Amino acid sequence: MSLLPIRTHGDPVLSTPTQEIKNIDGRIAALAQSMLETMYAAPGVGLAANQIGVSQRIFVYDDGNGPGVVINPQIIEKSGEYHFEEGCLSVPGHSWEIMRPDKVHLVGFDLDGNELDIEADQYLGRIFQHETDHLDGFLLIDRLDPPELQQKVKKMLRKQHIEIDSASKESQRNIFGK
Ligand code: NI
Repeated sequence: MSLLPIRTHGDPVLSTPTQEIKNIDGRIAALAQSMLETMYAAPGVGLAANQIGVSQRIFVYDDGNGPGVVINPQIIEKSGEYHFEEGCLSVPGHSWEIMRPDKVHLVGFDLDGNELDIEADQYLGRIFQHETDHLDGFLLIDRLDPPELQQKVKKMLRKQHIEIDSASKESQRNIFGK
């Protein structure tokens, strides 16, 4: 498999909840492998399938302790508060200090179809929340608080998105000499 382009903010696949995976088969194993390669190359510590345009409920991660894959993840419990400077491969060039629950209880399945049941806090707990959010159609900017800051950042990113769009149209015009 190969490296896959990472979708960025403004792409509707990122704001659409992903589909539950019904069959954990070779196709899912190959998808996970490509996602891990793409994540390490970026480099990043987590990647959700919709970030590469695949609307399926699976994410990969590596918090420094080796690669992990979670299929159909659900956070069934969370507690505490943890402030952390958070970034995202789909919102390149930015990071914000975001408060989220500290400790989470994550359930899901691994590539062999075995049930996963993991309690995590701090850095790993943050990765699990960030990636599960992606699969539910949320970006880290949806977690910015207060609402005024969130609106300001979204407005800034929309403007940046329009500029990137028109710059790529401009370069296409140049290529085609129109
Ligand atoms: Ni992200």
